[in-house]
Amino acid sequence: MVKIAPSILAADFLHLDRDVRLVNDHADLLHFDVMDGCLVPNLSFGFPVMEAVAQIATIPLDVHLMIINPDKFIERFAKAGASLISFHLEAADEAGKDASEYIALAKSCGVKAGLAIDPDVEVERLFKYIDEADFFLIMSVFAGFGGQKFIEASISRIAALRAEMDRRGVVKDIEVDGGVSAANSKALIEAGATMLVAGSSVFKSEDPALAISKMRV
Ligand code: DX5
Ligand code: ZN
Repeated sequence: MVKIAPSILAADFLHLDRDVRLVNDHADLLHFDVMDGCLVPNLSFGFPVMEAVAQIATIPLDVHLMIINPDKFIERFAKAGASLISFHLEAADEAGKDASEYIALAKSCGVKAGLAIDPDVEVERLFKYIDEADFFLIMSVFAGFGGQKFIEASISRIAALRAEMDRRGVVKDIEVDGGVSAANSKALIEAGATMLVAGSSVFKSEDPALAISKMRV
């Protein structure tokens, strides 16, 4: 069954405690967006917020590192309570490294390792890592901001990755992030997505629990 991961980037930071508890019983993962102002043109939050959230979250923390040199921080995020950590292929490019290094590091820290790409990175570039990474994150908006419009072409990118996994007989999670709501969840699941990240459509809704359940169709 599909896993729903509300992104706390869209939560009310003055009532973070309330908002985390609001989704604890309804969602499968809690998505935590870390931005450094370098890999993406925005800043978000880091360890103090993560440690506070970890104290009250009853679902696994899914940390999305939109930062350069993620290898500097993977271990700390694992120790702070992350169960899944994703990092961008673009970050490896920027550092002149192979993403395999980050994948191996994350796995050695005992977390699930996810490899992410923005909408302008060829999805075929992920194929090389199908056996190594634990999951893949297809951005359906350009990383950096919540509340953006879903890019429709993401659906065929997910389908292409799922088709390649099927061809090789590999079953791994594909996460999609950006502009996800009940309006596109069905198409995303049919294309092969198994983890849906949703910020605005959950936390800006009147009834977050209902918004989550509507995405499970
Ligand atoms: C964007 C983040 C997303 C964001 C999604 O860079 O990676 O996780 O919080 O927010 P919505 O669902 O509002 O597009
Ligand atoms: Zn994210």
